[in-house]
Amino acid sequence: MLRLVDRALALVSWVAAALVLVLLFAGPSLIGAKKNGTVLYGSPGPSSSSAPQSGGGSASTGSAVFTSAGCANCHTLRAAHATGSIGPNLDQLRPSEAAVRAIVESGAGTMPSFAGKLSPAQITAVARYVSSVAGR
Ligand code: HEC
Repeated sequence: MLRLVDRALALVSWVAAALVLVLLFAGPSLIGAKKNGTVLYGSPGPSSSSAPQSGGGSASTGSAVFTSAGCANCHTLRAAHATGSIGPNLDQLRPSEAAVRAIVESGAGTMPSFAGKLSPAQITAVARYVSSVAGR
């Protein structure tokens, strides 16, 4: 009788061991595959997305940067339909291109620096855009 129980338990533990093995091998490789996928998607992402914009500098690119970089969350700029009120109202301030570039590169107070987030071309584009449309 005890031997029968023993065998039954042995069978159960083999099945359990087999399941653990399947999970050990299949599980992490599935998760790993997903992780690799995101890493592969993530690494060319920023470089490929900045590549087409690096040739730009037009107002449309500048307005796209203004919206996507989050400037609109903090600043009011009528031309960009931005109504943020954390930073100064850019329509009233009417900053020069150089002033926009300087603060976007360095940040100030609550405003973060965008030096590592935007390419130099994107900073030029957004600076030209803001200085050209502010107050209009
Ligand atoms: C988290 C909120 C926030 C974001 C995002 C933000 N700003 Fe600002 N911005 C501020 C604040 C706050 C100030 C005032 C900083 C100070 O002088 O203390 C400011 C100041 C400025 C000024 C005024 C510079 C001057 O001459 O006084 C300009 C221009 C400006 N931001 C442009 C931008 C642009 C362009 C972007 C997007 C790339 C941006 N900001 C993103 C909050 C923000």
